[in-house]
Amino acid sequence: MITLENISKTYSAAGGTVEALKNVSLEIGQGEFFALAGASGSGKTTLMNILGCLDRPDSGRYLFRGRDVSKLSSAGLASIRRAHIGFVFQTFNLLSRLSALENVELPLVYNGVPPSVRRELARRALRLVGLEDRAAHRPCQLSGGQQQRAAFARAIVTSPKLLLADEPTANLDRASSGEILKLLASFHQRGGTVILVTHDAQAAGLAQKVFAIEDGILAAR
Ligand SMILES: Nc1ncnc2c1ncn2[C@@H]1O[C@H](COP(=O)(O)OP(=O)(O)OP(=O)(O)O)[C@@H](O)[C@H]1O
Ligand SMILES: [Mg+2]
Repeated sequence: MITLENISKTYSAAGGTVEALKNVSLEIGQGEFFALAGASGSGKTTLMNILGCLDRPDSGRYLFRGRDVSKLSSAGLASIRRAHIGFVFQTFNLLSRLSALENVELPLVYNGVPPSVRRELARRALRLVGLEDRAAHRPCQLSGGQQQRAAFARAIVTSPKLLLADEPTANLDRASSGEILKLLASFHQRGGTVILVTHDAQAAGLAQKVFAIEDGILAAR
């Protein structure tokens, strides 16, 4: 499903340049659960941004479902994201003015799904994460764990093939973390491909492949 060949990414900032990824090559099959570990600043989010078509590499090739996406325009990347990829972030990233249900509906709005259909799909996704009774709540009226479950519902409401989760349990207590890991595992069991950034050994234990990144260099663990 995913092939990276010699991907490099350098950032330029006021203090100079940072080589965030150095010749990263990687293969992830459809239905695989892939975990990525590494110290702060090692390049994990940079790699996730490229895998999720949020950013482009400076050099190298990225084949996503057989297609080279490394040189696509921003609009081209956005259409791949909308069609195939769901995201869960460390900080939930729900829109504060929208209800849980409206947040979950949002990716369907971008995909042009008619209102009655998207409402039903969003309700179904909220049910899947056990939040149907909180549909009308704003993010500030939800606990952290509930916010992340709503964010998970938003990530899967479009039935993506690929789910990217960048430290999704870092801001959660043990019980809430366990619920999120269960949701990731069940997405995987239904045939989905998961890429998870985590420091948590229990989370990495779900994965079939665990890689570590150090100063932009990727290695199997
Ligand atoms: N937009 C940017 N401009 C300049 N440098 C950046 C930018 N984003 C990241 N970097 C640098 O690139 C390197 C990798 O950053 P990245 O965010 O990928 O690390 P990370 O492994 O996700 O860290 P953390 O565990 O703290 O989230 C770091 O040295 C960081 O300072
Ligand atoms: Mg990061």
